[in-house]
Amino acid sequence: MTSTILVTGGTGTLGRHVVPLLREAGRDVRILSRHRRESADGIEYVAGDLLKGEGIEAAVEGVEIVLHLAGGPKGDDEATRNLVRAASRAGVQHLVYISVIGADTVPVGWLTSKLGAEQAIAESGIPFTTLRAAQFHDLVLTVVEKMAKLPVIPVPGGLRFQPVDSGEVAARLVELTLDKPAGPVPDLAGPTVYGMAELCRPYLQARGKRRLMMPVRIPGKAGRAYRAGENLSLDGADAGKRTWEDFLAERLR
Ligand SMILES: NC(=O)c1ccc[n+]([C@@H]2O[C@H](COP(=O)([O-])OP(=O)(O)OC[C@H]3O[C@@H](n4cnc5c(N)ncnc54)[C@H](OP(=O)(O)O)[C@@H]3O)[C@@H](O)[C@H]2O)c1
Repeated sequence: MTSTILVTGGTGTLGRHVVPLLREAGRDVRILSRHRRESADGIEYVAGDLLKGEGIEAAVEGVEIVLHLAGGPKGDDEATRNLVRAASRAGVQHLVYISVIGADTVPVGWLTSKLGAEQAIAESGIPFTTLRAAQFHDLVLTVVEKMAKLPVIPVPGGLRFQPVDSGEVAARLVELTLDKPAGPVPDLAGPTVYGMAELCRPYLQARGKRRLMMPVRIPGKAGRAYRAGENLSLDGADAGKRTWEDFLAERLR
């Protein structure tokens, strides 16, 4: 008999890939969500809010493995500290966390809060696994769609991305979740590095749009870190397979 796995963020972009994979592996899943939902088919929903510290005790009760995917633009450090406290008291045996490449090297708010979350987990005493991933195609598409609404697209010099498929990240996380705690594991990025203009062009072409592109410079320490490629994983050892072009071709069909 294997215990239920708690998935925070099980309703999000990544979570919607992860949960069916855990079900296929024969595991019952509990999802912590800020919204009340009906439980069904081996998936139980518990209402709670990690930032407000609500419903967390009930979510971790009787759970040995937690896959922590919940995240937002800010406060992931505080939300994670709240989760870790409850998980520790409940005797959780493995906490798996999804972080972002550059959490420790790019000084922008949401990355710093991801680093705070990583640290809270590493210092908790709970056996853990942390995977850092690059930006998901889905997020890059949201950015590109917004950019394409502007008459002129700003293209920050030296800013590059290595977008990765959220389904591939989900598959890796499920493997890690069902395995032993491994601490920090190798980063997962997409197979190709693109500048902002290279990400926008195939989208504009598919939509039959033309836009001017204007070079801009990101100032300060964050700009230097991005130009140095601190948000990239360039050794290629653990790259995903699906390219931005493959993703767009399918999504914009
Ligand atoms: N998107 C990317 O490119 C990217 C890249 C690398 C790593 N990541 C990390 O991957 C994780 C998932 O990203 P995603 O793109 O799937 O996110 P998403 O689609 O925005 O979904 C966010 C999820 O977090 C939950 N959540 C947010 N605030 C919460 C709170 N206060 N309490 C409880 N649950 C809360 C939401 O649940 P409800 O709305 O149901 O409450 C939702 O399921 C995040 O930790 C993110 O930092 C993302």
